[in-house]
Amino acid sequence: MPNFPEETPADAPDSSGSTNAANPAVAPVGDRRPTGESVGASAPGGTSSPVGNPSSAGELLDSILQSKSDLFRGSREVLRDTYVPNRLPHREQQIRSVAEVLAPALRGEVPSNLLIYGKIGTGKTAVVAQVRQDMERRTEPGGSRLTFVALNCGNIDTPYSLLQTIGNSFAKAEPDRIPTGWSLDRVQAAMARLMDARGGTIVLVLDEIDRLVARSGDNVLYTLSELNRGLDQARMVLVGISNDLKFTNHLDARVRSRLNEEKILFPPYDAIQLQDILRERAREAFKDGIVDPGVVERCAAYAALENGDARRALALLRLSAEMAERDHAKRITPDHVVKAKNRLEQDIIVECCRTLPPHCKVLLYAILQSYERRRNGVLTGEVYDSYKRLAERLGLQPLHARSISNYVSELESLGLIRATIVSRGRGGRTREILVDVPLSETMPALEEDPLIAPIGRPRSRGQMLLTNFDNPNRTGPF
Ligand SMILES: Nc1ncnc2c1ncn2[C@@H]1O[C@H](COP(=O)(O)OP(=O)(O)OP(=O)(O)O)[C@@H](O)[C@H]1O
Ligand SMILES: [Mg+2]
Repeated sequence: MPNFPEETPADAPDSSGSTNAANPAVAPVGDRRPTGESVGASAPGGTSSPVGNPSSAGELLDSILQSKSDLFRGSREVLRDTYVPNRLPHREQQIRSVAEVLAPALRGEVPSNLLIYGKIGTGKTAVVAQVRQDMERRTEPGGSRLTFVALNCGNIDTPYSLLQTIGNSFAKAEPDRIPTGWSLDRVQAAMARLMDARGGTIVLVLDEIDRLVARSGDNVLYTLSELNRGLDQARMVLVGISNDLKFTNHLDARVRSRLNEEKILFPPYDAIQLQDILRERAREAFKDGIVDPGVVERCAAYAALENGDARRALALLRLSAEMAERDHAKRITPDHVVKAKNRLEQDIIVECCRTLPPHCKVLLYAILQSYERRRNGVLTGEVYDSYKRLAERLGLQPLHARSISNYVSELESLGLIRATIVSRGRGGRTREILVDVPLSETMPALEEDPLIAPIGRPRSRGQMLLTNFDNPNRTGPF
């Protein structure tokens, strides 16, 4: 872990005075919208606000819209996840490999099916989008017909809706569309008819294919991999994208061998590669000379620790700019990166707590309460007793100690707590639990949860408590 001695403790009062109440839009990690953008461009009451001290939400929004950024060259979209840059540094080899596999489609031949693997934020979706753009530009009018259909399986619930969505992407008019309520066989036949009507080579990109399989099994993939047998005028090739490297282990052998005809692995980026990616994006996004030395390096170093995730690196850069704007600064400094990192971590932690199963939430709240009282490690026996009391107060049937012990392990693997084995002489061994998240953010987040609210205490915002959050020995995803 690199040493950043000047880091602001996560619990230190935030000079922006921001709270989660001011920043409610915390999206899942993989799909994060820039936190703070809604409040960050111009702090309420900021001296640079063109409308002075806006008192209503409307005035605040007006002031944000009217305030010109001193930092951004133009649109902030350049730093967003959805923006596809013209160049993808350090992915040249993967671009070439994907293009090589799919190129036969340009000559009217059917390429091999392709599976793309790699951890989150390694550029899989961006590379396929770029190859698609390049291939579409090269299809000649009147030449062999090539159609890309790209779907994110994370948004698709059932095999029915997958086949329906694929089919409907070829529907020319409303009556051609596949409605809901048909049998699966009928949807499949209608989808094949629509594809044949289009003809040519169809490249079906199934992004986050592992989520489809986890949700609905592999039958639908079998159906798709067999589809060419039933097509007359069209030929389909499958491109699966997954960040679960082992997901094909769970597939039926036939499906696995069909999907695996070609495989491309995307390795994580290292810190130097992330710097190149960020520098290029920063040049496009910001006015000249406003990014201080050390900013890009620091964003890259943090993201390299997070499995080389380019999305995380870009989020940090974007949030650093927003922190600078909140400070009405003319330049982005390494301190803004530290603030951005703390903000990002807090938001991720809060989101993580909110999505825990109910008993796990009660357990975490029991742990935080005990920890807050003791400011020291708490033993699992005590934690279980407090959990039981809280669960009963909430009218829940407490789970057995065994299940709670599993939940302790789960909270530990999420990086929210740390449990160490301690010996109690003849009393045997037990686990001592330390909290690894900032109480000042996490407790109010849990207390705002409808499940916990009845047992939560009113607390004043800004109440700061000591935690191990900045303990350099802490482990876990944060
Ligand atoms: N080499 C690169 N150059 C510039 N930007 C990149 C590069 N690689 C990734 N990015 C950017 O990082 C973000 C994440 O990339 P992308 O969505 O392609 O990752 P992914 O591998 O599909 O991740 P996931 O598995 O979470 O879907 C995007 O905004 C993308 O534009
Ligand atoms: Mg992706």
